[in-house]
Amino acid sequence: MLDDDVLVAPSVLSADFTRLGEELDAVADADLLHYDVMDGHFVPNLSFGPSILRQVKKASSLPLDVHLMVSNPEECVPWFLEAGADIVTFHWEAQTHAERLVSLIHDAGAKAGIALNPATPIASLEAVLDALDLVLVMTVNPGFGGQNFVGTCHRKLRQLTAMCEEHGVRPIIEVDGGIGADNATRVVRDGARALVAGTTIFSANRADNVRAIREAGRMGLLRSV
Ligand code: DX5
Ligand code: ZN
Repeated sequence: MLDDDVLVAPSVLSADFTRLGEELDAVADADLLHYDVMDGHFVPNLSFGPSILRQVKKASSLPLDVHLMVSNPEECVPWFLEAGADIVTFHWEAQTHAERLVSLIHDAGAKAGIALNPATPIASLEAVLDALDLVLVMTVNPGFGGQNFVGTCHRKLRQLTAMCEEHGVRPIIEVDGGIGADNATRVVRDGARALVAGTTIFSANRADNVRAIREAGRMGLLRSV
């Protein structure tokens, strides 16, 4: 891995669940495995919980990047920590005591992230940014795979990058939703380093798509581009 590299995180949500083991093998060269938890309340969809995460952990050696799209995340964060999450990200819009939740995640030895919906301003993170390992900038409104990238997120990523520089911190900046090789260069240039992709990875040759997104992302690391 390069010093300041791009991480590709396939979203399991778009995998074919009738053959999940093969799907996990097909993305084994990625960097993180993105696991989208939806509760039918914070977002209008249901996905999967900690028991499937436990199975996935047995079948994949990638770090498990758990994205909790749930109301009251304080209730279910411990379930996913116990199930083996390596990174736990909860939504700013869903929590009431962010610092407590971040400490709970850290105390369990995992990395902590906060996700922001497209309409939630970066400034919300001012007080908690220094404690975070990851900031997830949602580039679609969460709930479903296969949506179009929200264009205003480019500016938001640059604002977040500037805020991190101001604070002297380097959390992983992750983007999620509508990401593919076509926009990977630009989001990396804006400061993103972890690229979540579901539809674009699982719709054709998985390994080729992981590679294509990583290569396009790395182009964004080049100063001259
Ligand atoms: C959206 C989820 C995403 C989603 C990404 O609610 O958080 O992880 O699966 O899917 P694509 O890449 O299809 O937009
Ligand atoms: Zn996600």
